[in-house]
Amino acid sequence: MITQSQEKYRPLYHFTPQQGWINDPNGLVYFNDEYHLFFQYHPDGTVWGPMHWGHAISSDLVNWQEQPIALAPDEHGTIFSGSAVVDWHDTTGFFNGQSGLVAIFTHHDHNYKLDHIQQRQSLAYSHDAGRTWIKYEGNPVLEHDELIDFRDPKVFWHQETARWIMILACGQTVHLYGSPNLKEWTFLSEFGDGIGSHAGVWECPDLFPLMVDGDAATTKWVMLVSIGSSDDFIEGSRTQYFMGEFDGVTFTPDDSSQEIRWLDYGRDHYAGVCWSDIPVEDGRRICIGWMSNWKYANLTPTEQWRGAMSIPREITLEQRAQGITLIQRPVQEINTMRSPIVTLENTTLAEVQAKLASLQMDSYEIQITADITSTFALQLRASSSQDQVTVVGYEGDASEVYIDRSHSGDHTFHQDFAGKHTAKVDHNLSTIELQIYVDRSSIEVFANDGQVAMTDLIFPDHDAQGLGIQSPDQHLPLSSFHIYQFMSS
Ligand code: FRU
Repeated sequence: MITQSQEKYRPLYHFTPQQGWINDPNGLVYFNDEYHLFFQYHPDGTVWGPMHWGHAISSDLVNWQEQPIALAPDEHGTIFSGSAVVDWHDTTGFFNGQSGLVAIFTHHDHNYKLDHIQQRQSLAYSHDAGRTWIKYEGNPVLEHDELIDFRDPKVFWHQETARWIMILACGQTVHLYGSPNLKEWTFLSEFGDGIGSHAGVWECPDLFPLMVDGDAATTKWVMLVSIGSSDDFIEGSRTQYFMGEFDGVTFTPDDSSQEIRWLDYGRDHYAGVCWSDIPVEDGRRICIGWMSNWKYANLTPTEQWRGAMSIPREITLEQRAQGITLIQRPVQEINTMRSPIVTLENTTLAEVQAKLASLQMDSYEIQITADITSTFALQLRASSSQDQVTVVGYEGDASEVYIDRSHSGDHTFHQDFAGKHTAKVDHNLSTIELQIYVDRSSIEVFANDGQVAMTDLIFPDHDAQGLGIQSPDQHLPLSSFHIYQFMSS
């Protein structure tokens, strides 16, 4: 029998379902020392189909135990994306004065009001820390007479106005609603007209406060909005964000210019949202995204399963040379899963080349630091004939980091899959530092301590495990070069 970790393309350290299709992360919540990850799930096939909420639990964000299906379709429809919260003070009355988990999700019904109004918001609650769920008998709790796209509720408790706030995707904008008890909702405001990307339908929003450099006096609100795929947008589905103020009713962006801020510069980080109820003592804001793109999500060449989650990322706001900057770093728990293989300080290209020539690996992290003016390219997941190779590099002249997956392996399933994706880094710094996470079928790059994130799927042959490095400057000095290997557990 072939074990999971031997299956072609099956990631070693990214969450995938044992079988079936997944898309968006849903219901991210921390409760009783456990992280819950629910997800859009089609258990009976490896293409999108009638949506359920699948479920996994972890104590450390990186080792996940898949659980039985949490929410299955019912008389109100299939179960689209949504969130979960801890109802600490039993505002819902579901918990007999105790606290418990409530899921707020979209019911999608093709037959409800014929092809027009199909999406309504509903509740489910759990008396056993998320193991089993009871759908609220008063479902749905929120519907709209006109909107066709009315989905993906993300809910949080707003301390200052002492009520729940829901942010919901409504076509090409988001709506905010308020509620004392999660059951009755009042419209508060709308955001999105004339700002940001409208290349596709708005989906999976999130809204949360972050302190700048950990200083409570300068708190900003960050709004994430995913943009669905449309035929004329080559990049497919992506996630944008806004920074601004939220007064309990209205979100006001700091900058109403047309500059679009993308969360990730690769093609495969979508529908990312953050965990709810992480304890104040921890204080982190942690997000996870679906590593795929609606452009080809149904076509990627995996067999048993289709769809994977990104590495969970901590999001912070930091004052950097270019202003307040959204920073993303892999959660530190990921470090427990890998061990050092190569550790070189103040080294040279030639020394690194010699080390890499002797290695064969498919799941690892590389950390490389060099002068900001350098140009270099790393060859990863390379086959012995070199006909398969993924290149991650940096071009000092352009201050650009890139992933080139043009020859990364199987790309025949969609014409827009092959290609090179780039992102600018801050050239005022003296060094370029890349953290590159390679798994069986993905690459995630974090540049300059989380200033830029890029995520791309790749589908190389299993034995394409070679590594190399090149530069126009044969004597290129490197301040440091580290490799850590991930092991199957
Ligand atoms: C985003 C999305 C959501 C929807 C879900 C359906 O990827 O389209 O808007 O709720 O997927 O599976």
